[in-house]
Amino acid sequence: MVVETRSQVRPGQRPPEAGQAARPGAPRRPPGAEREGEGFGIVSRSSITPMESVRRLLGFLAPYRRVVIQVILLLFATALLGMATPYLIQQVIDKALTLGNLPVVALYALGIVALSLTNAALHTIQRYSLAYSVENAVYDIRNRLYEWIIRMPFGFHDRSRTGQLISRLTSDIDRISRFLGFGIAELASVTLTFLSASIMLFRMSVQLGLLGWTILPPMIWIALRGSQELGPRFYGLRQQFGRITAQIQENYAGVRVVKAFAREQLEISKFRRELQEFNRRRMGVIKIFALLQPSMSFLTNLGLVLLLAVGGHAVLQGKLTLGQLVASQGYMMMLFGPIRMIGWLMIMSQEAIASGQRMFEIFDTQPEVKEKPDAIELPPVKGEIRFEHVSFAYEQDTEVLHDCSFVIHPRETVAIMGATGSGKTSIINLIPRFYDVTSGRVTIDGYDVRDVTLKSLRRQIGTIFQEAVLFSGTIAENIAYGRPDATMDEIIAAAKIAQAHDFIMSFPDGYQTRVGERGVTLSGGQRQRITIARAILLNPPILIMDDSTSSVDIETEYQIQQALNASMRNRTAVVIAHRLSTVKNADRIIVLDRGRIVEEGTHEELLALGGHYRRIYETTLAQQEEKEVA
Ligand code: GTP
Ligand code: MG
Repeated sequence: MVVETRSQVRPGQRPPEAGQAARPGAPRRPPGAEREGEGFGIVSRSSITPMESVRRLLGFLAPYRRVVIQVILLLFATALLGMATPYLIQQVIDKALTLGNLPVVALYALGIVALSLTNAALHTIQRYSLAYSVENAVYDIRNRLYEWIIRMPFGFHDRSRTGQLISRLTSDIDRISRFLGFGIAELASVTLTFLSASIMLFRMSVQLGLLGWTILPPMIWIALRGSQELGPRFYGLRQQFGRITAQIQENYAGVRVVKAFAREQLEISKFRRELQEFNRRRMGVIKIFALLQPSMSFLTNLGLVLLLAVGGHAVLQGKLTLGQLVASQGYMMMLFGPIRMIGWLMIMSQEAIASGQRMFEIFDTQPEVKEKPDAIELPPVKGEIRFEHVSFAYEQDTEVLHDCSFVIHPRETVAIMGATGSGKTSIINLIPRFYDVTSGRVTIDGYDVRDVTLKSLRRQIGTIFQEAVLFSGTIAENIAYGRPDATMDEIIAAAKIAQAHDFIMSFPDGYQTRVGERGVTLSGGQRQRITIARAILLNPPILIMDDSTSSVDIETEYQIQQALNASMRNRTAVVIAHRLSTVKNADRIIVLDRGRIVEEGTHEELLALGGHYRRIYETTLAQQEEKEVA
């Protein structure tokens, strides 16, 4: 049962971003081809066959193979012991009851009890051992999948629906767990029981054996038809459930927008429609069950009636003892039981195999940003950033940056300006290698960012994102996110530079104030200053900032500006600027237009040039100046 596999995911193996290729020869799909359906990455779902899914799923049990072998032996033992009970009952009836020999009856009764107890005990050990190995395997699977997902690069997360990833980690793994923990063992046990019960029945009476077997074909037919009908319906049911989960998740994330636009009713009706579809599909499943179960019961009962008729006749003719008839009835039930289970087990297996395919699809996704096997540690840098003829596309054929070249010197502050969508965020995303260039190269202190380990690269770059994300926890924990070992003094020092100390201290709990999932208790400007403090605490030689909160009041804007000025001192800083004060403070300004660098120079130089920058200045920045003066 335990197949030694060369599963791509083995204990200790880390996702490709951490240094190893997921799967050297994995078929590649052109980027973008995965867009439809729930695809994730570059490897298509169909590349994992059901057999491969089973093989790789069993591979997860490999570390526990000793326990698994024990389980298999116990399965054999319990199946065989189960066969003994009807036999003993036959003996009681024929050898003792009919002869009125009560002490022997009692002896047999004791024997049956002892046998049942032993069987129960073995069963318990078997269940426990199986659960032990499967729980451990599932623990491994869940951990590895989570690790894999979290190590995946930006591009993967851009493409994936959160709800779909969550369902991989929860319900798909649940199904795999049920299959490994129950399905496989049950499949083995049912097969063993079926075979041994057949043999025992034929040994009791060939006639009754044949009778039992004539009932089997219609039962098997019903079981297989049932699972054929149920399989796709279950699949559809789960798809629909996934859609509902995704909708709940997305709506919840956007609940403020829903309310702001008073679209609750629309969302409720959308949800109701999805739920109605879910119910319709559920009824489809229930309908099949409603047909399946009674037909099975009917055939079972039919078998028993026939057995009584044929067997009873034989008993009356003296060709069969009463004990043999009763025992035959026991074996026949053991024969039918597995057939009734087989449909279930097939569905369970199919589901688990499909879940496995979905999971391995993630494991097999080739990340676009991948650490080279021979990546080196980036030594502490001075902070020179160089773009050499860099072009970049998120998706093939839609280039968003075209042939960009520039140098940012150590300790220089450079502001990037340009209209919305001109590629500012895209440019700075390339510095910590959130994405890879399509052509050209990005170097830091002369090192191509693709030649160094991601950790050593990102540790030296403080990133402040356009959106200020805080985790649930205290303010201190949020500031120390990148350096959990930081002392309280260091945290406070960083907060002071980020101009966050005063407002933090104004809360009753100070640095221990808890902030929610999105830091809802804080204003946008406050959140941003906490994220600035978070980046400063790293004390990185390079700081990049996507500054977008141009809509804060003048007082807050002033404070953020102070925070920025302080934080950019003594390091290389690249800041996407919307404020005149930031621009004026910069040593140099790079102006982007539709993915091209169109101007470069100081505020005065660019004003004198009378081009793009001057236009931006006259239309937006100058107004800020007036506002500041006023
Ligand atoms: P603002 O932040 O609005 O000021 O714009 P920006 O200058 O930062 O533009 P950005 O670099 O975000 O986008 C440049 C172009 O890339 C735009 O045409 C976007 O539509 C596109 N783009 C940005 N992010 C993605 C992405 O994740 N996937 C794809 N396919 N395109 C993207
Ligand atoms: Mg942007």
